[in-house]
Amino acid sequence: MISSEMREMANVRVGDKESLAREIVAEVDSLIRLRASEGREVVLGLATGSSPLPVYAELVRRHREEGLSFANVVSFNLDEYEGLEPSHPESYGHFMQEHLFGHVDMRREAIHMPDGNGDAEKIAADYEGKMEAAGGIDWQLLGIGRNGHIGFNEPGSSRESRTRRIELNEITRQDAAPAFGGIQNVPTHAVTMGVRSILAARQICLLAWGESKREIVHEAMSGKVTSALPATFLQDHASVKWYLDFAAAGP
Ligand code: F6R
Repeated sequence: MISSEMREMANVRVGDKESLAREIVAEVDSLIRLRASEGREVVLGLATGSSPLPVYAELVRRHREEGLSFANVVSFNLDEYEGLEPSHPESYGHFMQEHLFGHVDMRREAIHMPDGNGDAEKIAADYEGKMEAAGGIDWQLLGIGRNGHIGFNEPGSSRESRTRRIELNEITRQDAAPAFGGIQNVPTHAVTMGVRSILAARQICLLAWGESKREIVHEAMSGKVTSALPATFLQDHASVKWYLDFAAAGP
């Protein structure tokens, strides 16, 4: 349960997820348009999974109905499963195409996804280099795993971790099993942005929907900061907003 004190913190928003998504997207929209008016790009860090869906739906709606252009947007996704081709229905590349990239006017070359196929060490180093060359992430969207992961920084990931290959944790694989038609089909590894790479973002927006996230989000916000629960590292970031629906916030 999120205490009344925590609810009153300026960086915690509790509501229904559609209203929260509208609130979030209003902020992103302003940032994108401001940068466009200055002739500058904006760098967004993006997540997959069920949490960002209302945010992507609202971004697409604003593009279609309110003239929001993504022509000056550069994006970096958090993670990708190892061994899946971008055309695989469960790959994160496919997910992003289906829920955002396929519906807005982003430039192809502005979209960055970690490659789940190839020399992971090289892929990770290139990814970090590209983020740096882009000037770092302005705004990072995050979900949280039931085990407290952010990106695929599983329990045990250090604060200093960078983009790298990682072995997926049992809980993560179990949670993905229904979509893959059984745990035996869930990849065992992934490439993920590191904790340090995430914390380097100027602003972070974490989404948690549903009762199944209640306990972990509470721990992440107020528990002891530890690599056993990587989301606790967010407590040390100067600009994180936590968006919780009523079920995740608790009574
Ligand atoms: C996804 C990601 C993961 C998810 C997390 C929550 O790119 O990096 O950390 O954000 O597993 O997933 P959902 O939103 O499906 O509950």
